[in-house]
Amino acid sequence: MPKPILIDTDTGVDDALALILALRSPELSVKAITTVAGNIEVQKCTSNVHRILDLLQIRERPIVAQGAKRPLRQSLLTASEVHGSDGLGNVSKSLPAVEPFKPASAVQTILECCDRYGAKLVIVAIGPLTNLALAWKSDPRTMRKAGHVITMGGAFHVPGNTGPVAEFNYYVDPEAAHIVLNSGVPVTVIPLDVTHQVVVMRKEMEYRAKRRASMVAMTVLNMTREYMRYHLDTQGFNGGYLHDPMAVAVAVDRTLVKTRKVRVDVETTGTYTRGMTVSDFHNRRSRKHHAVQVAFTVDRDRFLRLFHERLWM
Ligand code: RIB
Ligand code: CA
Repeated sequence: MPKPILIDTDTGVDDALALILALRSPELSVKAITTVAGNIEVQKCTSNVHRILDLLQIRERPIVAQGAKRPLRQSLLTASEVHGSDGLGNVSKSLPAVEPFKPASAVQTILECCDRYGAKLVIVAIGPLTNLALAWKSDPRTMRKAGHVITMGGAFHVPGNTGPVAEFNYYVDPEAAHIVLNSGVPVTVIPLDVTHQVVVMRKEMEYRAKRRASMVAMTVLNMTREYMRYHLDTQGFNGGYLHDPMAVAVAVDRTLVKTRKVRVDVETTGTYTRGMTVSDFHNRRSRKHHAVQVAFTVDRDRFLRLFHERLWM
């Protein structure tokens, strides 16, 4: 029986790859996709979700709901330099126009899914946690019915990617991240500690896309061009990290990562440390009080096999 999942996304390039992976995984049933401001403004995130659903020609469409335009307290920081001004590597102009849509409310959709699917529901959060925090603040009892939250975010024993100590999703909305990680809902964190262990190189994307030569494959190749160039310009390799696809892959197969249980606080007032994930791995108490599972190792080969097998279907 496929697992019912809700994906909360700030639909940038790696989010789009994660959506394709999720929608092509028979182990998952995507019941709803909720959008949140992060990589790009939230309206563009919602349009991008529809573009991916159109591209894959998904007939039984999940609910598409639009959420927070900005973080709980901070002003919005976007990442168009990484994901393009449209969030999809500037390929949206070459895709069919999106039909006008009237999105549902993200908070309402999250709570309805928690109510309807209960402990079976897995929420895969691949953007800032603003929507989940708002849902928690509005109705913690219902949120607590959810089975599991898998969140891509944080950086524990590695440098950040948004300043020296913070990862982007938790930097954008540190207050929301702190609320969700201390909500008592079972959480698995997929931080840069594991997502930086896996890179897909441009050459491999070109080889696989041209071998498959479908509309989806060529769109994926075009969509990732700028994303990969960003990494070439800033980190010296012509490729890209698969942050959000890894979070979806863990929803498919939890054994892909090994985790440690620990309480995680997120810095919200630090002048130089906003968004930093702070944990005391040596304190026994810290492994009990509102502890979450944090992934530190990933089975790189099995993850990449799953990713490529489904991305190029
Ligand atoms: O730090 C990487 C995360 O921030 C990914 O989810 C990426 O899409 C951005 O949202
Ligand atoms: Ca994301």
